[in-house]
Amino acid sequence: MTSILIQGGQQLQGHVTISGAKNAALPILAASVLAAVGESRLTPVPWLNDVMVMLDLLQSLGAQVETDGVGTVFVRAHDLPGWEAPYELVNRMRASVLIMGPLLARLGRARISLPGGCAIGSRPIDLHLRGFVALGAEVKSNHGYVEASAKQLRGAHIYLDYPSVGATENIMMAATLAQGTTVLENAAAEPEIVNLAHFLNNMGARVSGFGTDRIEIQGVEHLAGAAQTIIPDRIEAATYLIAAVLGQGRVTVSPVDCSSLQAVLAKLRQAGCNIVSEQENTLTVLPTSALKAIDAQTMPYPGFPTDLQPQLLALLTQANGASLITETVFENRFQHVPELCRMGAQIRISGHQALVRGPSPLTSATVAASDLRAGAALVLAGLVANGQTTVTNAFHIDRGYEQIVEKLRALGAIIERIPD
Ligand code: EPZ
Repeated sequence: MTSILIQGGQQLQGHVTISGAKNAALPILAASVLAAVGESRLTPVPWLNDVMVMLDLLQSLGAQVETDGVGTVFVRAHDLPGWEAPYELVNRMRASVLIMGPLLARLGRARISLPGGCAIGSRPIDLHLRGFVALGAEVKSNHGYVEASAKQLRGAHIYLDYPSVGATENIMMAATLAQGTTVLENAAAEPEIVNLAHFLNNMGARVSGFGTDRIEIQGVEHLAGAAQTIIPDRIEAATYLIAAVLGQGRVTVSPVDCSSLQAVLAKLRQAGCNIVSEQENTLTVLPTSALKAIDAQTMPYPGFPTDLQPQLLALLTQANGASLITETVFENRFQHVPELCRMGAQIRISGHQALVRGPSPLTSATVAASDLRAGAALVLAGLVANGQTTVTNAFHIDRGYEQIVEKLRALGAIIERIPD
């Protein structure tokens, strides 16, 4: 267990390199077990705790997993004796549930420890399970596990009550080997889903419409391992854009797919951030005179991402005026607020809304990360707080940010990691 110490007030400048997207790598690694032949070669895979858990899960199922140590992962799943994601793995990483669709499609059965809730909400998987039932699976839950089985999945017309990212991914993966065509309405359209769909098609699947709210999957007989490039992490990139604004220097961020950050760039620029795109796949942050209060609400893609709400809140503590932030995706995603207030932020919560008054001079404090994005927000606040801030439970941050201490130090931050 470690903490991250940040000395506030340093100007940041230089270049930060963005890692492969965690939320693309995890479903793509899960999808690799759909291939009964061949080898999948995935790169760049971020070296994160959550990815380690997913690799452990694949190996526990019998897949052969190798890495080159610098971001490439090879998976061969010719024999797959295992069909269960045990409690101890799912408990470490709820995205383990993404193995369910591939196992059900490949083996006709899957047994997953029901993921519990987490800091940001109850996070049920009812939409995933209803999709499997629609594809012809029998689903039953007992003793904290959920089991799905089907002799042969059959294509279906499925409407998602909510554009759930994980449900879209799980159902899309399951449908690749179903008999017939599946249509998924009200699907999520995140860039990570597009990246997954490209991988599935490279494996021999026939997926179309991804990136829209209507995805069509024509089932095929089998899939083979394939190579896939993982997209850059848009949430990590946006986190460093905000760090650069707070650091008041000139910082370039790459690689980044600017088209996946339209809502984020619009909001940051509305707040007065000076962010330009001088080269392809690169964003440059220039010193900003004064930040202005804005209103924003989190929405499924292409709306403003919930995974950047805590970081935006930290930024808006330094903006002139009152900002109203509405969190529409998760029911409990303001756990960073009390910690920010302990640093001097003026934020009031009312239901799903946070009212942020600024600018507030922040003072250093010992604060606790409650989840990966809340932890990142506290690190950002530490960059501008007067004194040395200690962010404890840094393991939360390490789940989503590869080498955050090293990357910020390279920009000029005075930051270190110490044992808790
Ligand atoms: C993915 O989680 C991401 N994780 C999350 O990123 C991200 O915040 C979220 O999508 C929304 O963009 C990964 O991709 C590994 P959802 P997921 O299903 O799939 C409700 C991070 O910080 N819901 O789109 O779990 C759910 O409770 C993490 O990197 C149901 O009700 O998100 C939530 O309120 C955090 N029933 C809403 O939908 C279901 O069956 C959105 O959840 C599924 C979801």
